[in-house]
Amino acid sequence: MSQITFPVNRFQQLDTPFYYYDLYTLQQTLSAISEAIQKDPHYQVHYAVKANANPRLLSLIAKAGFGADCVSGGEIQAALNAGFPSKKIVYAGVGKSDKEILSALRAGIFCFNVESVPELEVINQLAAAQGVVANVALRINPNVDAHTHAKITTGLAENKFGIAMEDMLPTLQRADVLTNVRCVGLHFHIGSQIEQMDSFVHLCERINELQDCLEAAGHNVEHINVGGGLGVDYVHPLTNPIPQFRAYFDTFRSHLHLRPQQTLHFELGRSVVAQCGHLISRVLYVKEGHIKRFAILDAGMTDLVRPAMYGSRHAISLLDKQGGCVAASDTNLHYDVVGPICESSDVFATDLSLPLLHRGDLLALHSAGAYGEVMASTYNCRPLAPAYYSDELNAES
Ligand code: LLP
Repeated sequence: MSQITFPVNRFQQLDTPFYYYDLYTLQQTLSAISEAIQKDPHYQVHYAVKANANPRLLSLIAKAGFGADCVSGGEIQAALNAGFPSKKIVYAGVGKSDKEILSALRAGIFCFNVESVPELEVINQLAAAQGVVANVALRINPNVDAHTHAKITTGLAENKFGIAMEDMLPTLQRADVLTNVRCVGLHFHIGSQIEQMDSFVHLCERINELQDCLEAAGHNVEHINVGGGLGVDYVHPLTNPIPQFRAYFDTFRSHLHLRPQQTLHFELGRSVVAQCGHLISRVLYVKEGHIKRFAILDAGMTDLVRPAMYGSRHAISLLDKQGGCVAASDTNLHYDVVGPICESSDVFATDLSLPLLHRGDLLALHSAGAYGEVMASTYNCRPLAPAYYSDELNAES
């Protein structure tokens, strides 16, 4: 894949900061997923809307035939508005409100991923009042270490998510006697930004054990949902923009004992949208401190909270007049790249080697498509940054 060129002539006319979405990268990513699942009718990918709910991105993902994984009534509405069929929507979350459950029942979604017995009872009650039977999948906490950041690990016994493995059979038995829920699947999700396939292998092994135990107790389920979590390359986003989809799906093909009639569902978020998004910002000031040199940007943690929240690092490039990224050279200097927010954690990078920076220079913070725009806030009464798309900017330039 050739390296992206940014429409800087158009960027120069726009107020910063803003999100720039390269739709070609998104399309390439979607095609890579479709190729990796090789049209296997047993595999169904639901895009995790939480990663980015931008309506344009959602509608392109819906058009490519993906389902949607939602965690709130608002996300279900956004998915429906973007054209995802309700029969391809799964709904997870530890704290679904009655109002949200009711609207999901009315929309006729495919399945609720249920995280506790009290939630199961409430869905049953609300479904009965509506005169419908709700499909549910039990979210089981598999106690598998995802070897990722503690704040994005979800499948350990100490996390708030899911039903403990030892409670799986009693919960299924409870579901059996409830008349307005039908247990059709098991759901898992061990964490996010997972780079080692080993963690997914462990997940498969755990699911195999659980399925054997289910069958021994006379239960069968129609589908297995393994959640999301595939990591992306935050270090080389421009030269390696397409995540390891083939290795990822092959891991499940090789290690998961899917029963012949079962379908396998995935909920990929970050790996679908991270690399198509860039946060474009201007250098406001270069400040020579006594022990540090600061590049102070007009974008801050309100526009991209991941560095402040998880200590994560996004690659940053200085854009040249042709829209390329200025390569590193001997004249590079070290900068702490920081935002304007009144918080010490509003730091994008420390001691980053960058070409000589000047006031007004345009910088691109890469891999901002996932958990960027969607996690933005108006802290410090800052307006939300707008989004622009490669097709509209390139068409006008
Ligand atoms: N399914 C479930 C049940 C989830 O909880 C998540 C993410 C996904 C799917 C999608 O996972 P992905 O493919 O995106 O890894 N804000 C954090 C990430 C939080 C992930 C929460 N759950 C970040 O910026 O790193």
